[in-house]
Amino acid sequence: MTYLPSDTRYDTMRYNRSGRSGLRLPAISLGMWYNFGGVDPLERSRAMLRRAFDLGITHFDLANNYGPPPGSAEDTFGMIFRQDLAPFRDELIISNKAGYLMWPGPYGEWGSRKYLIASCDQSLKRTGLDYFDIFYSHRPDPRTPLEETMGALDFIVRSGRALYVGISTYDPDQTRQAAQILRDLGTPCLIHQPRYNMFDRWIEDGLLDVLADEGIGCICFSPLAQGILTNKYLDGVPDESRSAKYEGHLHWGDKVNQDRLAKVRKLREIAEARGQTMAQLAIAWVLRHPGMTSALIGASRVSQIEDAVATLDNLAFTEAELSAIEGILAGS
Ligand SMILES: NC(=O)c1ccc[n+]([C@@H]2O[C@H](COP(=O)([O-])OP(=O)(O)OC[C@H]3O[C@@H](n4cnc5c(N)ncnc54)[C@H](OP(=O)(O)O)[C@@H]3O)[C@@H](O)[C@H]2O)c1
Repeated sequence: MTYLPSDTRYDTMRYNRSGRSGLRLPAISLGMWYNFGGVDPLERSRAMLRRAFDLGITHFDLANNYGPPPGSAEDTFGMIFRQDLAPFRDELIISNKAGYLMWPGPYGEWGSRKYLIASCDQSLKRTGLDYFDIFYSHRPDPRTPLEETMGALDFIVRSGRALYVGISTYDPDQTRQAAQILRDLGTPCLIHQPRYNMFDRWIEDGLLDVLADEGIGCICFSPLAQGILTNKYLDGVPDESRSAKYEGHLHWGDKVNQDRLAKVRKLREIAEARGQTMAQLAIAWVLRHPGMTSALIGASRVSQIEDAVATLDNLAFTEAELSAIEGILAGS
């Protein structure tokens, strides 16, 4: 059936400026790392993208390797885009990245000009898009000069393949250097995409300051620690969960362990006192930084997207709540 987005889609979402750029992103963005791959039911992926857009989520995040199998999230997005979202292209911010392994041989990963441009072209083909709104270097490459990687991003913009560029998981020093190179090239760095959640706070140790100084936005991924910062694992590992589906453990070092779950049980009491779900508390907590442009969530069903967007009903924290959260997170 032809998709007609909700007329009220811009009524409740908040849009935050990304650094000192002209671009505003929704406070909640949706990523397609999992649940949009070739192994997932297309109709469920479609329902999530439709519902997200109906709720004002204008930003969808991809990477070359998302699936599984790698590349298939781009195929899925491309299919749904053509059928449902193409008339609304100018209302959407679609990002993509290259950095991780995509094809064999010396040119299939990291940060060379050869890899980044070839990967961007492959991603455009798989999605069927004419351009990406944001193109990222997915990870720093210790063996390629930063000038080469940033030069490739600049070229990707100048050649019309993307409108803006970003970097992901770069440390504070690398970020400062990348920002300088990009500024000199005339293609300022729009945004940084780091991991940030209650269990992983590395960005508080310098990166947020660099981003504020440089006028770069911040979109944090895995704000729910891949689902651990929800009620999901409190009574065991459900079959329908990322942890159960992907070898009993989560990527990026996120493990469902008893110490973390004990903290989530206590955090949930704070969430309940605020009239929120645990997931909403975790999302509001990452958004408390004035420099946080967007929380980049994942979802396996429509209700999780609705839950996340309802976070916006209560973003304010009292000092007492923040220090109670600190106390729980610091406890052993
Ligand atoms: N730049 C990078 O290097 C990088 C790395 C990783 C991710 N990312 C980006 O960040 C996006 C989000 O990452 P993520 O998926 O790890 O984020 P996340 O929001 O921390 O975790 C999402 C998962 O949490 C569970 N969940 C979400 N809402 C829930 C709710 N209300 N109640 C219970 N469970 C809930 C779902 O897991 P179930 O499937 O178990 O239901 C969902 O798939 C990715 O899609 C990708 O775009 C970027």
